[in-house]
Amino acid sequence: MNFQKQYQGYLAFFEKELKRFCAEMTHRPPVLTESMRYSLLTGGKRVRPVLFFGTLEHFGVDHTAEVGLALALECIHTYSLIHDDLPTMDNDDFRRGNPSNHKVFGEANAILAGDGLLSEAMCLLLRESARSKAHLDAARYLANAAGADGMVAGQSADLLYTGQTGGEEELDFIYSHKTGKLIAAPIVMATLLGGGDADAAERFGQALGRLFQLTDDILDEKGESVKMGKTLGKDREEDKLTCVKVYGLKRAELLADRTAANCLSLLSNLGRDDFLAAVVEFVRNRDN
Ligand code: IPE
Ligand code: IPE
Ligand code: MG
Ligand code: MG
Ligand code: MG
Repeated sequence: MNFQKQYQGYLAFFEKELKRFCAEMTHRPPVLTESMRYSLLTGGKRVRPVLFFGTLEHFGVDHTAEVGLALALECIHTYSLIHDDLPTMDNDDFRRGNPSNHKVFGEANAILAGDGLLSEAMCLLLRESARSKAHLDAARYLANAAGADGMVAGQSADLLYTGQTGGEEELDFIYSHKTGKLIAAPIVMATLLGGGDADAAERFGQALGRLFQLTDDILDEKGESVKMGKTLGKDREEDKLTCVKVYGLKRAELLADRTAANCLSLLSNLGRDDFLAAVVEFVRNRDN
């Protein structure tokens, strides 16, 4: 099956389940539910759920039986975006082609929408972890990847190095935590459920996360705002520690090419998979 078709298939399935999940939200006061729904439903590539489904199928696990963990992944990712856009963090007015959560609901409600999504994710993880030891391991992995040794640590370092000098080592820490952890998570979680080599999955996932943030930084410099659905040029404006700042655009592009090649070589340790190989190409060549 071709890549686009398979991606669209996972996407359509996930969107349907996400809509159902959002429709069943009845948090009060209603503004809380509205702001959580707003960020979950308006746009997004759903790369993390798609990676989760693709890796599950690689190991012969039916992806339609694992919606709960996919929803948890997207809730955590979406919360990270809401908080990332806050004036006190990146101060971004647009996200996923729409006004950022705090532009619509106000800063305090945006903070709470993020808190709500993280808590909903934890409820999903607890529910799923009761299904089997592998589900418990997968849930634990995501809880860790989201938190103070994971994405949150990366966001903290991102802020710490904003406007500061930093080199390869600092950039690596930021990349491997703020992005690498939540890109590796779906791949490792699916590998745990499929009984594969979790260490090999983590190595591939971290490399893909690195590629993902390399292209995010490169696109902030030279992408198209309409396609990206967010304001670009912000990293330079805010003096973020990015690959473009550390290496310059040209060397950053070369590093992205090398990282994509490294991803493909690390993927081979999980066994040949045409879909996951195509995801690597998609992340390297994306324009949104
Ligand atoms: C954006 O993630 C934040 C980063 C980690 C670079 P995505 O590019 O996956 O954002 P959506 O979910 O498609 O909006
Ligand atoms: C965000 O990195 C990573 C997160 C954990 C949300 P960026 O700040 O570069 O993401 P964008 O460019 O705002 O999507
Ligand atoms: Mg940021
Ligand atoms: Mg940002
Ligand atoms: Mg960015």
